[in-house]
Amino acid sequence: MRYGHFDDEHGEYVITRPDTPLPWINYLGTDAYFGIVSNTAGGYSWYQDARLRRITRYRYNNVPADAGGRYIYLRDNGSGEYWSPSWQPTRCDLDEYECRHGLSYTKIASARLGIRAQTLYFVPLGETLEVWRLRVRNERSRPADLSVFSSAEFCLWDAQDDGTNFQRNYSTGEVEVADGVIYHKTEYRERRNHFAYFACSEPLAGFDTQRDAFLGPYRGWDRPLAVERGESAQSIAHGWAPHGSHHVRLPLGPGQTREVIFLLGYWENPQDRKFDPPGSGIINKALAGPVIDRWLRSATVADGFARLQESWAAIRSVMQVSTPDNDTNRMVNIWNPYQCMVTFNMSRSVSMFESGISRGVGFRDSCQDLLGFVHMAPGLARTRILDLAATQLASGGAYHQYQPLTKRGNDTIGSGFNDDPLWLITGVAAYLKETGDTTILDELVPYADSGTSPVQLYEHLERSFRYTMDRLGPHGLPLIGRADWNDCLNLNCFSSTPGESFQTTANVTGGQAESVFIAGLFVLAAKELAGIADLRGRTDDGCRYRAEADKMAAAVTEHGWDGRWFRRAYDYYGQAVGSAENPEGQIFIEPQGMCVMSGIGLTNGMAAKALASVGERLATSHGIMLLQPAYTRYYLELGEISSYPPGYKENGSIFCHVNPWVMIAETMIGDGDAAFGYYMRINPSAREEISDVHRCEPYVYAQMIAGKDAPSHGEAKNSWLTGTAAWNFVAITQWILGIRPELDGLRIDPVLPSAWPGFTASRRFRGATYEITVRDPAHVSGRGARLLVDGRQIQGTLLPLAGAGETVQVEVILGPEHSGPGH
Ligand code: BGC
Ligand code: NOJ
Repeated sequence: MRYGHFDDEHGEYVITRPDTPLPWINYLGTDAYFGIVSNTAGGYSWYQDARLRRITRYRYNNVPADAGGRYIYLRDNGSGEYWSPSWQPTRCDLDEYECRHGLSYTKIASARLGIRAQTLYFVPLGETLEVWRLRVRNERSRPADLSVFSSAEFCLWDAQDDGTNFQRNYSTGEVEVADGVIYHKTEYRERRNHFAYFACSEPLAGFDTQRDAFLGPYRGWDRPLAVERGESAQSIAHGWAPHGSHHVRLPLGPGQTREVIFLLGYWENPQDRKFDPPGSGIINKALAGPVIDRWLRSATVADGFARLQESWAAIRSVMQVSTPDNDTNRMVNIWNPYQCMVTFNMSRSVSMFESGISRGVGFRDSCQDLLGFVHMAPGLARTRILDLAATQLASGGAYHQYQPLTKRGNDTIGSGFNDDPLWLITGVAAYLKETGDTTILDELVPYADSGTSPVQLYEHLERSFRYTMDRLGPHGLPLIGRADWNDCLNLNCFSSTPGESFQTTANVTGGQAESVFIAGLFVLAAKELAGIADLRGRTDDGCRYRAEADKMAAAVTEHGWDGRWFRRAYDYYGQAVGSAENPEGQIFIEPQGMCVMSGIGLTNGMAAKALASVGERLATSHGIMLLQPAYTRYYLELGEISSYPPGYKENGSIFCHVNPWVMIAETMIGDGDAAFGYYMRINPSAREEISDVHRCEPYVYAQMIAGKDAPSHGEAKNSWLTGTAAWNFVAITQWILGIRPELDGLRIDPVLPSAWPGFTASRRFRGATYEITVRDPAHVSGRGARLLVDGRQIQGTLLPLAGAGETVQVEVILGPEHSGPGH
């Protein structure tokens, strides 16, 4: 069952009934001002940091779901009837309803009682404001006497404090109303130089700034008193809950359409120009005023929206593909890159499953997000890399995350995850492969904890590498620390206190628990680092890195192999985890994907065996589970992983992030059918038909889908902010379609499903455009491509670098020699 459909031409998902199984959301903003918006106009906004600069208030876990947002009410003054054109919050029946989520904008349209309304929500490029452009059309044969009410509830900036510190906050709220603009200025009187504003393009019939005057006592958003009465109260908030609502009278003749523009914005004044007159406590509007005036104009809005769309078209044009499979095309061309951009911007901080309060920018998360993002905005990727490196510690370890506003590292969700530093190497490698810009390696970056002078980024990478080398366990495998990629495999934790956080509680010291997964990641990262060293002419370094990679691969082969698959770890007591010896948790997905990706076992049959075991034991029709059998009880020595009921999250769900590692591994052993088969199982577009089972948005990946041990097998959770976005983009574009940036250039090495006759793609890379046609006349599903560049056959699969601005025709023929052109 579906709740809408894709409109690929416009790059939109069109939701055609408002009561989706969960709020299906979108993100507004591309730069500093951001928001989330649901298909019924729910959600909230913030500036840079969803915790520290929250602009509007939102209550998670609310009933009914998703209450509070960017609301507009329409009132028929003739009958006194009122409704929400976005369905929520009044939930009155609509004759028509349609929500179009596009790239960084959302349009919600509906019709009721002969009145058609459409609201466009977006954040113009480079501005710190959001536009709500409402168009109302009277489709009746007689005049309509309408009123429009807007509604936005302000947050008192720090969302954590806002939701808890009521004894103070009920007394601090302050607003101003001037020339029809509502200003929210709580704490502006003291240390804040910023305020929010809510403006309207039309003359006002009234306004409210105190929430409870607008709603009325004991009422919710579904029946505000002001709307019911058709009159605002002109309330001024002193403390309690500052709110913004405009009332506009909108008489419409038959067939007439009118536009009303609302702006919700954020502004920062210079310290010495806060007040007008100086010292008065009144906001100086001289700087924000012209911006507000400009964006209240219809032409500015139309132009701003066009520029946003052009910018996305330009970003998307870096890579476009046309394959025989539509679910692949729309994910690769539209939604997957978009989700990569969103995860890059938000890290794991703010979605319907992340409250915007507790998680800043994750170190390992962002390093992986780079893999799917760097081709779209290499400049931003460069800045992010340097920010992340600056949260690395002199030991080579790293703060687990940082707060975007301050860029200071913090351990609020734990520390000592021993895989963290290695991801910096993979992130930097991805940047270098895409851009060829080796100057980044010379950038001087400080360590977060040392007073000593900054060192070159290259030195940071060396320290990342050494961090693992300095922490090897009894089998020569890396010590796991608190956990590795799998935050919930807490082998040194031994927590028996109810409610204690597995992620932050003190660990037992002196633990020797080792991770086979980190070993695989180390081999991968060491090889990347060797390539980087070669680029810099540091061939001695390169040899050393390769030698250590080989040694680690040997340790995995000796101690990490269980007979039919790679083991996961050794626990505190030196017992194998992820082994046939274990009653539960016998096989884990992570080491199978990571070890094969790093090249371990490719020549001795271990890789193929491990992947066959994944197929037999972990694969389901909804995707590949993280482990089997799921843990049915709590194991003190394993930690959070066994705290989850079987089939959920790290305890045996289909943890989508790691599925693409297996896809990539399958391409490395040449099995395009297996790789693409796995890709399709979790491709959200391919799951659209089962939206009532999947329940999350069909246009973005979710972190997890319940595994076969869960009663709700197939149900997705934690949509949007997940490493799944970047890794699936890498798996499909770089390994299945095989268009792969490498340090020396662009490689074309597809491993396709055998049913495909081929595909075409256009890829911009280091300034040149490659028009690629791949043909697979023999339907081989394996490796082996012959390349013709501008008609001439080349040796191997690495394209010669073309000059900036050039367009190069690339013809790729897969399969045995005789099936090439002319045969
Ligand atoms: C979740 C993980 C998450 C970790 C850190 C755990 O409860 O299961 O997926 O990475 O918390 O926030
Ligand atoms: C979500 C976290 O954001 C990510 O860093 C981690 O690797 C996975 N959970 C697995 O635990």
